[in-house]
Amino acid sequence: MTQEATPEVAQGTPRARFHRLRVTAVDRLTDDSVALTFTVPDELREAYRYAPGQHLALRRTADGAEIRRTYSICSAAPADEAPRLLRVGVRLVDGGAFSTYAHKEIAVGDELEVMTPAGRFTLDPAPGHYAAVVGGSGITPVLSIATTLLERTPEARFCLIRSDRTTASTMFLEEVADLKDRYADRFQLVTVLSREEQQAGLASGRLDRERLAELLPALLPVERVAGWFLCGPFGLVQGAERALRGLGVRRDRIHEEIFHVDDGPAPVRPARPGGVSAPAHSTVTAQLDGRSGSWPVQDGESLLETVLRNRPDAPYACKGGVCGTCRAFLVSGSIAMDRNFALEPEETEAGYVLACQSHPTTEKVELDFDR
Ligand code: FES
Repeated sequence: MTQEATPEVAQGTPRARFHRLRVTAVDRLTDDSVALTFTVPDELREAYRYAPGQHLALRRTADGAEIRRTYSICSAAPADEAPRLLRVGVRLVDGGAFSTYAHKEIAVGDELEVMTPAGRFTLDPAPGHYAAVVGGSGITPVLSIATTLLERTPEARFCLIRSDRTTASTMFLEEVADLKDRYADRFQLVTVLSREEQQAGLASGRLDRERLAELLPALLPVERVAGWFLCGPFGLVQGAERALRGLGVRRDRIHEEIFHVDDGPAPVRPARPGGVSAPAHSTVTAQLDGRSGSWPVQDGESLLETVLRNRPDAPYACKGGVCGTCRAFLVSGSIAMDRNFALEPEETEAGYVLACQSHPTTEKVELDFDR
């Protein structure tokens, strides 16, 4: 998952931890999606304080194998107090080990292992005009962002452009309709359905770069939008980013989070260029929670895997270069990343890498997970 953040914002972020939280509601949103609500006990509420747009990793061990998946928080972030409840959206993925379990087995009263909130696809509510382009379950973090912004900031406006297959498959229809009712003069909604004939007020077809390049200037003053939030499948996010860049939007106003990565090539943003081939032997030194260790990197494994063999508490969720949970600062040496859907160019330029995608290209590499 990718997001806007400066390294300074992330500094001092407490290390993500798992706790067992009780499920207090399971709401069916569509045939293939549910919302899970967890209650946070008083003693853990501070640990689960979140910014709108962040996500939670859920962990389960089945048949001896550990599965982790990240799901975005959809509820508004409380303004002055730590949260009592956390609500996430879960869409069923074909053959998905965790989402199938969530849909078929999780019931009210169950306890799940839930990581403390993470992610930098966030908004700090402030007056101004904001906009989002989302596809499918990409609505989930943006619902939290839009609701928090509109609730807390009377001078803010939000334009949501969402793309779904059909009305029946659209997540959070009621919640978004509620935003329209509550903030009729500050919340603008455009829904585009790709597999449904046009109905009253609804556009049909795909939201691609060309279409967005025409649509956006007709909808809102593009040059005055303070922040753009793009979330969904890779193709949609990439098309929206290119449309915005073509319209002259500055890169630092565009925030991205990719939900599905199977419909496009993997963007690789090398970190600190060094040798391109792996040395015969290399060693990683990692700082984690104030403790440091050095271990040999085995053939072909990522730096996260090396660290995990020795420090099982190393942070990760997706292991796919998407969520950013394994972000670490490259103190010395150089690495090559297989792919990177999570870090912004500013972060890689500042020296951050995704440990789950990193392979050493020098004999010694030093990572700091605490920065
Ligand atoms: S664990 Fe998700 S990007 Fe590395």
